[in-house]
Amino acid sequence: MIKVILLSCLMCLSPAVVLAQGAPLERVDIDLADKSALQDGARTFVNYCMGCHSTQFQRYERVADDLGISHEQMLKELVLTGAKIGDPMTSSLRASDGKLWFGVAPPDLTLVARVRGNDWLYGYLRGFYPDATRPWGVNNHVLPDVGMPNVLEPLQARLEPAQFDAKVRNLVGFLAYSANPVKVQSQRIGIYVLSYLLVFLGFAFMLKREYWRDVR
Ligand code: HEC
Repeated sequence: MIKVILLSCLMCLSPAVVLAQGAPLERVDIDLADKSALQDGARTFVNYCMGCHSTQFQRYERVADDLGISHEQMLKELVLTGAKIGDPMTSSLRASDGKLWFGVAPPDLTLVARVRGNDWLYGYLRGFYPDATRPWGVNNHVLPDVGMPNVLEPLQARLEPAQFDAKVRNLVGFLAYSANPVKVQSQRIGIYVLSYLLVFLGFAFMLKREYWRDVR
């Protein structure tokens, strides 16, 4: 019995152990209420990532409404695939072609921030380094033997390191929003619910006093 318990503990821990390998990850602070940062992240996403990746459980319209972008602006500047405003954000790359070209089909990224975590994404996107033995001439500190090219290299070459980090932070922010689009909303609703309960408590207390006056 003890063996079984120990074994199941080990099995629970093993993903943590696997993820904890390699260099420690830097922490990244994401502010989901900062809409202009998320807008910037969305722009980087459609320009640099959607050639290969989709966020197919997310619609353009929802992103526009949540991030405060007008539908016209969304269609003009952020829909690069000819899609309609109500369409899901799908890449035009076919999974079979992706597999052929990269060895692995580029995965859908709608929920990647939940699976990997923000710090992992921030480390991964900044973790590419030259490695002549790899097909794209790059490898990655966070995901060894990566199949993805360093697509942000043009940005990295153009920007100061601090500016580049900020761009990547905004991009991770967009992916974090995408993985949990109702988070900002639920926090706001939570405050309403708590204030309602507080007001209700006041009334309940007054009512109790009223009833007990007669009982006594
Ligand atoms: C040229 C195609 C291509 C582009 C463009 C691209 N990727 Fe990728 N990406 C891939 C491939 C292929 C993989 C699978 C790599 C592997 O598993 O080795 C991948 C993997 C990933 C992963 C790892 C997913 C996981 O959990 O294993 C993340 C995160 C990711 N990409 C984010 C991005 C972001 C963000 C962008 C835009 C800045 C981007 N990618 C642009 C091809 C691409």
